Amino acid sequence: MSGDLTSYIAARKKELNALILAHYYQLPEIQDCADFVGDSLQLARRAKEAEEEIIVCCGVHFMAESAKILNPDKTVLIPEVKAGCPMADMVTPEKLREKKALYGEPVVVCYVNSSAAVKAESDICCTSSNALEVVRSIPEGRDILFVPDCNLGAFVAQKTGRELILWEGYCPVHHVLTWKEVEEQKKLHPEAEVVVHPECPVEVTEKADAVRSTAGILKYVQESPKKEFIIGTEAGFLYTLHRHCPDKKFYLARPEFTCADMKLITLEKLALALEKLQYEVVVPEDIREKAYQALEKMIAIG
Ligand code: 13P
Ligand code: SF4
Repeated sequence: MSGDLTSYIAARKKELNALILAHYYQLPEIQDCADFVGDSLQLARRAKEAEEEIIVCCGVHFMAESAKILNPDKTVLIPEVKAGCPMADMVTPEKLREKKALYGEPVVVCYVNSSAAVKAESDICCTSSNALEVVRSIPEGRDILFVPDCNLGAFVAQKTGRELILWEGYCPVHHVLTWKEVEEQKKLHPEAEVVVHPECPVEVTEKADAVRSTAGILKYVQESPKKEFIIGTEAGFLYTLHRHCPDKKFYLARPEFTCADMKLITLEKLALALEKLQYEVVVPEDIREKAYQALEKMIAIG
């Protein structure tokens, strides 16, 4: 059955002149169907330069929205409308405007895990792979409000030495990891290096051997002479790591490390998306233009 579906997806994709993008947390069979698999920044860049008529984004809603913002003439589809990011829902444009007014219009740095409307209220976006560079690009002396991830914000503040006003948002999947859980894994695998995502709490990021975005973790383990790693991010990513580094061993930092939203996209839903051209992502033009400025400034940083 899955063989039939993958052949259908490949044929229909060609017929439609569509590009399939997938995030590293997607199910293995979705990653295998995709033309490009990457982290948030890589997906945004790839979507921006896409020449195909249709971009199918296998990820969560903000990723599809970013594709539409950056390449508005294309039809952007997400195979499951309910695939959202709970952290992105922790900030609204109304609440952000209130907080901006409270601090006298600070520079707003907005993690891409946010809605288009929130990006439109922000000065510059960042992802977990370029947040340090983005914050360093802001002139000293300016107040900086970092939304919505308090963990990424705290990590960036620590690394850059800049004082950031943090929002009370967090990723429910990464936020619950404790250093005690990591230590349990270290006892089982004493030779392993600990590599975690910056959405993990500070008590974990400050003790880990390395803190990276998903693409950054992949690069780190590929370049490391070590053979074993304890990985502090979503379970789906282990598929990517095993595929790229078959001779290395990877252990999850906690047994339950799953983003339910990322797992909502299945081969059946991807096939239906291509068959029925659903679900189209639409961003009102006034919001898109402003959100584009914030995303484009980030992309220009490199
Ligand atoms: P990356 O940009 O590192 O892939 O992170 C996206 C994300 O949603 C992590 O939870
Ligand atoms: Fe959002 Fe967390 Fe899922 Fe990433 S892992 S998409 S931040 S809920």
